[in-house]
Amino acid sequence: MTLAADFQLERQEGQLALSCRSDPSLGTVSVDFDDKSLAWRQRHPAQPEALLKAVGLRTGQALRILDATAGFGLDAFILANAGCEVQMLERNAWVHALLADGLQRAAGSDDERVRKAVSRMHLLHADSTLVERESLGEVPDVVYLDPMFPERRRKSAKVKKHMAMLQLLLEAEPDAPGMLAWAMGLGAKRVVVKRPRIAGFLDACKPSYQLPGSSSRFDVYLCQPSNRTSTSS
Ligand SMILES: C[S@@+](CC[C@H](N)C(=O)[O-])C[C@H]1O[C@@H](n2cnc3c(N)ncnc32)[C@H](O)[C@@H]1O
Repeated sequence: MTLAADFQLERQEGQLALSCRSDPSLGTVSVDFDDKSLAWRQRHPAQPEALLKAVGLRTGQALRILDATAGFGLDAFILANAGCEVQMLERNAWVHALLADGLQRAAGSDDERVRKAVSRMHLLHADSTLVERESLGEVPDVVYLDPMFPERRRKSAKVKKHMAMLQLLLEAEPDAPGMLAWAMGLGAKRVVVKRPRIAGFLDACKPSYQLPGSSSRFDVYLCQPSNRTSTSS
């Protein structure tokens, strides 16, 4: 198990960077919404398109999305770039600090698209399952969950650097049981869960339908919205 003391967060060339002393091969990890690979992902959108379909986004619509497992904000960025307002919750203090730094820098990006997208992303440091429905303000249209799963925690050469760092960092933080039940109780129209292609259902709960992505799939749970104050459709 990698200890918290193994990690260090420092400012390098104006951006917050996380490194792991016991595994220097991972290098440093920062959140950079101006990163070219993210722009590439938007221009070749196999996975993002599946994500946008999974949340039920229609052209011209602006959904309110609660991303309850924000991580490095990559999925939230895709959603915000497509016009959604995204409220993000992240439990881990270091991941939250990296993401907050990435959002702050992106607000001053030279790229107008990046600036516009991050203006729709709102981050809170919180354990989602402890957040009361009332404190969220308007009921979101969609709750999005991308919890860590055991397979992801295993070290693998194929795992991208930032995901490998996340795995090490979160080794000691098991996902809260009941996250799906919490999400379903918020009154949203749908809950979307990202899963590895061959993994079982979250909390063994069968979704309304599934959408395959490239390496993952999206399990979509359609809910009976209750007591909504949101006006979007
Ligand atoms: C797989 S990552 C999410 C990656 C994210 N979708 C992205 O695109 O960058 C899972 C994240 O959820 C966070 N997390 C897990 N349980 C949480 C909870 N109960 N509340 C808030 N965040 C949580 C973890 O700290 C981790 O950063």
